Amino acid sequence: MSFPIVILISGRGSNMLRLLEYQGNYEVRAVISNKVEAGGIALATQRGVPTRVVSRADFPSGAAQKREIFEQVKELDPRLIVLAGYMQIVEPYFVEEFEGRIVNIHPSLLPDFPGLDTHARVLAAKRPEHGCTVHLVDTGVDTGSIIAQAAVSVLDGDTPDTLAKRVQTEELRLFPWVVDQIATSQIVLSAAEVRYTHAARVDAAQRNFRIPS
Ligand code: GRF
Repeated sequence: MSFPIVILISGRGSNMLRLLEYQGNYEVRAVISNKVEAGGIALATQRGVPTRVVSRADFPSGAAQKREIFEQVKELDPRLIVLAGYMQIVEPYFVEEFEGRIVNIHPSLLPDFPGLDTHARVLAAKRPEHGCTVHLVDTGVDTGSIIAQAAVSVLDGDTPDTLAKRVQTEELRLFPWVVDQIATSQIVLSAAEVRYTHAARVDAAQRNFRIPS
């Protein structure tokens, strides 16, 4: 049975591309960008995936643009909405309509370092480790239930750029795995909780991913 997903992006789209290339048990019904300049749109088009750009310039307000993105996602009727570098807050009505069905990837080990500039902030705080988190989206900023994480060590001499590269390598391993686990019901999401089969826990441990106990 197909498991349709819609991917929302705003930028270069490396996570999106990896999701397209991973041979997962899901079907990418469309990639939607809120930015006309998002490099990921061309990457998706080259791979034959339907794309839509909903640009702020075409709407009288940011609220109207967000409403249009919501309407387009609704029409596509996905089982899961995947935010892959989508730099826009998802409105409460959107979260409510798709409760427990929106996931995001964030470049830190949440709940530490929500928000922007995580790599520089981790270095400034002299943390020994950093990483990325896939989490459920709720109405807060990077506050939804944690689904899975991948960690990297912070090394002597790291700069925000070197650290970002290692975290991004982990993002590309983690995100498609999580989406595939959801598509195959090995990870089960609901508004209230995230549940894992035993097989998902074993597989996560083998891949060095962390999941909440
Ligand atoms: C990633 O670092 C992700 O964690 C954050 O935005 C970035 C998107 O990068 N949410 P890309 O567009 O997938 O290359």
